[in-house]
Amino acid sequence: MSAATKPLDGAAARDLPQGAAPARTGCEGGPPRHIGIIMDGNGRWASARGLPRALGHKAGAEAVRRTIEAAAQSGVSWLTLFAFSSENWQRPAEEVRDLTGLMRMYLRSEVGTLAREGIRLRVIGERERFGAETVQAIAAAEAATAHGTRLNLNVAVSYGGRAEILAAAKDIARRVAAGTLDAEKVDMAEFAGRLSTAGMPDPDLIIRTSGEQRLSNFLLWQAAYAEFVFQDVLWPDYDAAHLAEAIAEFCRRERRYGLRVA
Ligand code: FPP
Repeated sequence: MSAATKPLDGAAARDLPQGAAPARTGCEGGPPRHIGIIMDGNGRWASARGLPRALGHKAGAEAVRRTIEAAAQSGVSWLTLFAFSSENWQRPAEEVRDLTGLMRMYLRSEVGTLAREGIRLRVIGERERFGAETVQAIAAAEAATAHGTRLNLNVAVSYGGRAEILAAAKDIARRVAAGTLDAEKVDMAEFAGRLSTAGMPDPDLIIRTSGEQRLSNFLLWQAAYAEFVFQDVLWPDYDAAHLAEAIAEFCRRERRYGLRVA
């Protein structure tokens, strides 16, 4: 076993993402296990064509379909898509209505395909903010795909990393105050177990499209050791070749998790 892949002990091992070991390249053990995508550029795609933004989001939903299939084909086990941020509620009411309507329609029309293709859907974020009809559609889609083992698909809606961390901190504070949790025993694993991604591996690769280079409140805690790939393509144009390019770039990276690799 090389120094680069030797398991760690002590504090360094505790701080690593679950299942991670320092490696020379990101692909020694296969493709990234978990990819997160910030899908950006629907609006610019639409305005470049003189179309309403709603049609950009509709084309974005087609790219979602292509990317899920491409991820499953590439052997990726987890895919988290940032579909609606906590901040997106501040967009004009008409756009919020278009986006939420599109997501609800997508959930209903795609659930059969997802289930057949072995794709397990989970929604993370504050789903209650979308109202009873959407909450019900989400629960039905999650239940219908719960047997899927080919790809775990998370769709982040009304999601914000800071709000998620704050909610976990409050939950822990309440338990400590109630005497059911010992503050001294709160470690990384305990904390991560109170996030909406509890039990899931951290993302290895985070992709953002459209040329913007920001994290925008996406998976703040979970992205601690992720590799970032920024692609100059508007989300509605995203396809299997773009995903393959991002994975190839990830494979060229040297992941060290803060350690020195000899
Ligand atoms: C960013 O583009 C994209 C979004 C805010 C929404 C993402 C939604 C989809 C891809 C479609 C529906 C999703 C699912 C899961 C079916 P933007 O509007 O910020 O684009 P701009 O920066 O060019 O204005």
